[in-house]
Amino acid sequence: MKLHVNLGKNSYDIYMKEGVLAETPELIRSIFKGKQVVILSDDNVYPLYGTALQESIQLGGFECHSIVLPHGESSKNIDGLPAIYGRLAALKISRSDLIIALGGGVIGDLAGFVASTYLRGIAFVQIPTSLLAQVDSSVGGKVAVDLKEGKNLVGSFYQPQLVLIDPLVLRTLPERYISDGMAEVIKYGCIKDSHLFDMLSVCNSFLDLRDTLLSDLIDQMRASSHPYDIDVCLDHFKSQKQPKVLDYVLYRCVDIKRLIVEQDQYDMGERMLLNFGHTIGHALEQLYQYERESHGEAVAIGMYQLTQLAEDKGLTKRGTAEQILNLITRYQLPSKAQVATQDLLEAMSVDKKNLGGKLNLILLNEIGDSYIYPTDLSFFDQSVSI
Ligand SMILES: NC(=O)c1ccc[n+]([C@@H]2O[C@H](COP(=O)([O-])OP(=O)(O)OC[C@H]3O[C@@H](n4cnc5c(N)ncnc54)[C@H](O)[C@@H]3O)[C@@H](O)[C@H]2O)c1
Repeated sequence: MKLHVNLGKNSYDIYMKEGVLAETPELIRSIFKGKQVVILSDDNVYPLYGTALQESIQLGGFECHSIVLPHGESSKNIDGLPAIYGRLAALKISRSDLIIALGGGVIGDLAGFVASTYLRGIAFVQIPTSLLAQVDSSVGGKVAVDLKEGKNLVGSFYQPQLVLIDPLVLRTLPERYISDGMAEVIKYGCIKDSHLFDMLSVCNSFLDLRDTLLSDLIDQMRASSHPYDIDVCLDHFKSQKQPKVLDYVLYRCVDIKRLIVEQDQYDMGERMLLNFGHTIGHALEQLYQYERESHGEAVAIGMYQLTQLAEDKGLTKRGTAEQILNLITRYQLPSKAQVATQDLLEAMSVDKKNLGGKLNLILLNEIGDSYIYPTDLSFFDQSVSI
């Protein structure tokens, strides 16, 4: 399956299919005429996929090097940049060479930032290996590094030239990170696609999504109260014999992201919808210094709690919060943080997106239909906990 992100001179293709990793040399040849390739990866992902990738790129006729960093958010810190730029310079990487980001969102954001700044910008390719990176961070060109004062404070918009999404690599992704990615998957259903939301509700777990045939699920949905147009679904997978539900879910999330980014590359309007659940989520992460809830857990709590509040204010259709609660629970995500709202408000007031106490909250009319609601911190009732 191929998707095209139409951004004028910044346009690019996204290839999604099992085994696409092995096709990297041919696919990069279509966008890259240079000689040297540098794979940026981390010490979990590189041993699993990087060694073979490097060999295949070399066999494909390129000179291929690798830079392997410790896994985790700390590698995305600005302090690590001089060593990476130094390695690139020592390898004599020029503006006509290529960087490949092989890893989760940390590596994607970091490699993208390095690519956007080294020699004022060189080409880069995203090969996302975590669920979060496959459905979200590898598409759309937001690249960044962290300061000690906060996450993603230094960054830019810099689109990749190609994105290769191989669902097979998710087989080695630890469960905790599957849940993190699932929160973002559920988010896409909430903001843009009630059918996707229903589909996720019919399955019981990520393994169910991974192992169930799309056609079986659609039959199941037809027999239940969730009719789904099988032709519309299968139309996207003409070249794939027996697509799994996960193939469709990945495709749908990436396609929603693509459409949003095409409309609003620089995050001035429509793209804000992707922040559904993130205002409360970021505040929670910040409050506990990223050590208690994972990102996905915090977003799940944010989606449910905000929708509950919006329902109470008559801003969201009754029953929507309960639908979200049922789905996040099904995917082992929490709905409550047991934190006083006052503590969260303090964390929200220092978030770079909420400066001056003004907030653009993302609310749902109902599942699949979201909108931007400009407000301020008084939206939150301080007498309750979240
Ligand atoms: N640019 C954007 O639009 C955007 C959007 C959302 C999040 N982000 C950023 O993404 C980052 C989080 O990304 P993440 O959750 O992917 O974290 P991550 O990159 O740290 O990956 C999670 C963990 O899984 C491991 N891993 C990744 N793929 C694996 C695989 N296939 N098999 C085994 N292990 C694997 C990694 O080594 C790491 O330990 C944050 O820095 C966040 O700011 C960026």
